[in-house]
Amino acid sequence: PTLIPPCLPTPTAWPSASPAPASRPGACPTSRRRLWSTTRSPSREYNPGEGLHGAGHLGGGGGGSARRISDTTSLALGGGEKLGFIIAGAPASGKGTQCKAISERYNVKHISTGDALRAQVKGKTALGMKAKGFMDAGDLVPDELVMNIVKAATEDVADDQGYLLDGVPRTMPQAHMLKDLGIDPSAFILLNVPDEILVERITGRRIDPVTGESYHVKFFPPPAGEIAARVYQRSDDTESALRTRLVKFHENVAAVKGFYSDVMVEVNGNQQKAVVQAEIMAGVDKLLAKKKHAH
Ligand code: AP5
Repeated sequence: PTLIPPCLPTPTAWPSASPAPASRPGACPTSRRRLWSTTRSPSREYNPGEGLHGAGHLGGGGGGSARRISDTTSLALGGGEKLGFIIAGAPASGKGTQCKAISERYNVKHISTGDALRAQVKGKTALGMKAKGFMDAGDLVPDELVMNIVKAATEDVADDQGYLLDGVPRTMPQAHMLKDLGIDPSAFILLNVPDEILVERITGRRIDPVTGESYHVKFFPPPAGEIAARVYQRSDDTESALRTRLVKFHENVAAVKGFYSDVMVEVNGNQQKAVVQAEIMAGVDKLLAKKKHAH
């Protein structure tokens, strides 16, 4: 998880937010002009009724010291446009697994709606209490709650950083809401994995509450000892909740995919993690190079 609202106590179970990376020499200045539409409400709330006291400041991010992209693309695409990605896919398709490497390579802040919602549930905030029932049942959380989180988190993206939305939009109304907020991604990464594989991934998944690392009892077991002893299973990682999550995914994915067809990077997520990562980056680099050339 990379989103930890500071309004919550800093539990030992969650990693602390990484500091924002320093500006890279030679990086073009970026602005939020393209991230936010000029017509947006001056309020930090997406909709009245669910104030941002619930969503809070969602700091953290995907900075870090790993090697970053340099030559073919850069953070700024030109014209003040901010670099931004969306990663989508069915439950357990590997979105979270791939986000760390993407964040580091492209200097984009990882914003996971699932992680943010779980932090709200853990902190027993009003938003978290509303979301919990939907999440445990595998159902979608109402759009306004999710969009409040996204709006707050994306507003906090540093000027020299881009964004990586993980798990949003899941529906067409959410896609339109993002567009209304001026969120126009440079790439929409879609991981394809057959349903039967997802069931095995979900039921075997274990999370390390300290690092947020996602393990699998069979394919990626947690190291024996302290880590193996503390990993836990998510409350929505049951077969029945997964069935509902899959139904919701299949109901919506085609329309959302169509919405972002011009920036689509579709990858077979049923391959080794490193292969998936390489294919994502190759697809994104190609799109960015094309886009940069067009500027
Ligand atoms: P969220 O947390 O986003 O859940 P999800 O979409 O179901 O995705 P997961 O986190 O389960 O999986 P993942 O794709 O990140 O896979 P991972 O990398 O962990 O959302 C939870 C809930 O919040 C939703 O159900 C909903 O209620 C609510 N919500 C969130 N966003 C919302 C929105 N926009 N609107 C409304 N409601 C919203 O990998 C899974 C497992 O597979 C791991 O064990 C991993 O080690 C393994 N694995 C990963 N890659 C590979 C590989 N290549 N090969 C083998 N194993 C792999």
